[in-house]
Amino acid sequence: MNATDSGKNATFTLTDNRSGDAYELPMLSGSDGPDVIDVRKLYAETDCFTYDPGYTSTGSCESKITFIDGEKGVLLYRGYPIDQLADHSDFPEVCYLLLYGELPSPEEKAKFENGITYHTMLHEQLIYFFRGFRRDAHPMAVMCGVVGALSAFYHDSTDITDPKHRMIASYRLIAKMPTIAAMAYKFSIGAPFMYPRNDLNYAENFLYMMYANPCEEYEVNPVLSKAMDRILILHADHEQNASTSTVRLAGSSGANPFACISAGIASLWGPAHGGANEAVLNMLEEIGHPKNIAKFVEKAKDKDDPFRLMGFGHRVYKNFDPRAKVMRETCHEVLNELGIKDEPLLDIAVALERLALEDDYFVEKKLYPNVDFYSGIIFKAMGIPTSLFTVLFAVARTVGWVAQWNEMIEDPSQKIGRPRQLYTGETTRDFIGVGER
Ligand code: CMC
Repeated sequence: MNATDSGKNATFTLTDNRSGDAYELPMLSGSDGPDVIDVRKLYAETDCFTYDPGYTSTGSCESKITFIDGEKGVLLYRGYPIDQLADHSDFPEVCYLLLYGELPSPEEKAKFENGITYHTMLHEQLIYFFRGFRRDAHPMAVMCGVVGALSAFYHDSTDITDPKHRMIASYRLIAKMPTIAAMAYKFSIGAPFMYPRNDLNYAENFLYMMYANPCEEYEVNPVLSKAMDRILILHADHEQNASTSTVRLAGSSGANPFACISAGIASLWGPAHGGANEAVLNMLEEIGHPKNIAKFVEKAKDKDDPFRLMGFGHRVYKNFDPRAKVMRETCHEVLNELGIKDEPLLDIAVALERLALEDDYFVEKKLYPNVDFYSGIIFKAMGIPTSLFTVLFAVARTVGWVAQWNEMIEDPSQKIGRPRQLYTGETTRDFIGVGER
């Protein structure tokens, strides 16, 4: 369904010396979630803007892809609960669901997987592109660059007005992202690139390209590939978060999809967003020992100290993060499989989780461990270097970005995104020549 008239209106008056007339704004209903006050005509009618830095009360678009109820801890992809998808589905199927709106039939699933598999290789010349980076470059920096450069290599899928171009670009992005991520890793350690293998599924192939080397056989551990698949599902989309909104805003000007996804990667990198999983590990290392936890918790509570407990809190979830619940289970499965019992960082993580969950400050502010708290620990156990954590998030989130970008382009009411501002700078003043200042 599309947004419908809720049958309600919001009425207000401006209490200054203006006309004193009452203004009426229509209200719209979606299929779930709060109604919205439609302010699209507000400026024309009242000469006022709304003011909402951080968009805490603003819906920026209509979407049918992902639904979150932060109070109840609900996350749905196209109506399906995240825990059911994590337990019973697999990542390619979830990609299909996010892109096309329905779960695929067996034939559709096989065709889709085949289509993705046969787009995993990179243009050979792109491989040389990696060599232009310093070996110690952060892999997110490499990824922003290489993904942005895809538009220079795949001109034949950059006409955004052509649905076929859009779909080929979408397949290419989903398919090539693990190859780019694995190459960024291999480059950083001076190891040879591993080309994708078409006999492996998406998660297996990713692990293979990350961990195999040309000198010996590599067998993918099924517990680890299942864990990777789940991690990919859990991170696949999250409605209008910072990076997705970045992709939409970049795309609203008509920019090509590769450039838009590169912008999304840049936004994801920040520690308040996808960079939190890397920040969690750095924080656990800084804490160093369970005996220091109380000191760090006090620091996090201190208003005059900018320090925050990384991996805790969420803009939308004020109950628990449903992804964190699944991730917690996966975390234990992986640690058991790898026989990790005496991992000091894990001891710190477990003790920190316990302490924060019992602390009044965290309880009152509803600051629960989020998905990044556990994903960092799993990645660490799997031997993935910390600097690569956010890269894995980017691999998973690409399908969400692409689905949201397609939805925006296909929306007939789509306009260039152009927020306004509350100006507080100098008003008009005359220029004074440099000698007279
Ligand atoms: N540690 C200590 N205090 C916190 C934390 C934290 N991690 N998170 C929020 N608070 C406090 C904050 O100081 C504020 O207190 P007060 O009301 O007294 O000023 C209150 O809780 C509300 O915080 P906020 O900054 O207004 O909330 P927000 O919705 O703007 O921020 C957040 C959400 C995720 C950026 C924030 O909780 C945070 O910085 N968390 C740590 C970083 C992190 O783990 N990010 C990953 C998010 S999940 C993955 C993703 O979606 O990318």
